[in-house]
Amino acid sequence: MSVQYTPVLWNRNKLVYDAVLLIAVALYLYVFIRYAPAFEDVTKPIDGATLRMRAFGSCAFLMLTVILCIGPLARLDRRFLPLLYNRRHFGVLTAGIAAVHANYVLGWYYNFSPTDKYVALLSSNTSYGQILGFPFEALGIGALLILFVLAATSHDFWLSFLGAPLWKALHMSIYIAYAFVVLHVALGALQGPGDPILTSLVTASVVLVCGLHFATGRMEAARERGEATAKASLQNAGWVVAGEVDEIDEDCAKVVTLDDDERVAIFKYDGKLSAITNACAHQNGPLGEGKVLWGCITCPWHGYQYNLADGRAPEPFTEKISTYRLKLIGSTVLLDPKALPPGTHVEPVRLGEGA
Ligand code: HEM
Ligand code: FES
Repeated sequence: MSVQYTPVLWNRNKLVYDAVLLIAVALYLYVFIRYAPAFEDVTKPIDGATLRMRAFGSCAFLMLTVILCIGPLARLDRRFLPLLYNRRHFGVLTAGIAAVHANYVLGWYYNFSPTDKYVALLSSNTSYGQILGFPFEALGIGALLILFVLAATSHDFWLSFLGAPLWKALHMSIYIAYAFVVLHVALGALQGPGDPILTSLVTASVVLVCGLHFATGRMEAARERGEATAKASLQNAGWVVAGEVDEIDEDCAKVVTLDDDERVAIFKYDGKLSAITNACAHQNGPLGEGKVLWGCITCPWHGYQYNLADGRAPEPFTEKISTYRLKLIGSTVLLDPKALPPGTHVEPVRLGEGA
């Protein structure tokens, strides 16, 4: 079986995004490793391996927090959209940083164990029935496994191979990974002598992630209510639902049959939508099956052409066909079934400007 996918191409924006990401991560790790000891209990100075384990662990946690905030931020304010761009590299790097953290844990906490360090990691504490002393490492392992699966399937090939709904459902498990990490820290590092910085960091992260998702949920619910009202009032005025905008392929039409058997062709072209009668003025050829070129439709039967915005044949020809009014509410296309006089200009609906 062969799978078609569009390869991800490198461009300047992606390189800048990755460079900023790498610099920020390197800076965080450097500042943490250099300055964190100044905030430690001087009677119990921590060793270098533990310091690096904490630096990488907290860095992965912060990165996961940022990743989960980017989506809702971009929905709340379009100015955050550039952050959404190339977010998958962010995710892959997070999995890598978390793996380094786990590697320090294995190297430092379990290296001198008489049992194999991986076996020791899983078997040294199995008190899953209690909160105090819970084997929090298992939650870290669970989170890391999820991050690995997501990183491995982040490429467009997997999106195309699995299909968008399944791929999206799989990638929603990032929320499970986040919950595991929060519990990993809450039941692990936060159980020891109080660390106010780590406690504030985890609390702020949970409040931010939950708060932003809550705000986005409210905003989207309000938008959906607005769309439902707009749709209902258009339908009350006699408009008909012509379908979802995604059903129409670029430079193609969806043909809708109205109650009076009149057929209307709704075209998607150049980021716009326009509707004309499906019947050619020459011999009723099916315009919805014609070819779109430079905003004109060419009839598949004998090649008559019409401008999609006004139904007029390009000069010097004089044929005219009926046009129709359209509205895009969210992703739904609505059509006014009243045909306008042949040759009437109707401003095309611009995609991305739905109510
Ligand atoms: C195989 C997987 C993992 C293992 C075995 C592991 C193990 C540990 C251990 C032993 C600690 C020290 C706890 C303490 O000081 O009492 C720790 C702390 C921590 N881990 Fe993990 N971990 C894993 C995965 C992760 C992942 C995937 C993340 C984040 C994405 C993460 C984030 C953290 C954080 C933020 C801390 C607290 C660091 C601090 O004390 O400042 N861990 N982990
Ligand atoms: S029917 Fe359209 S060109 Fe003849």
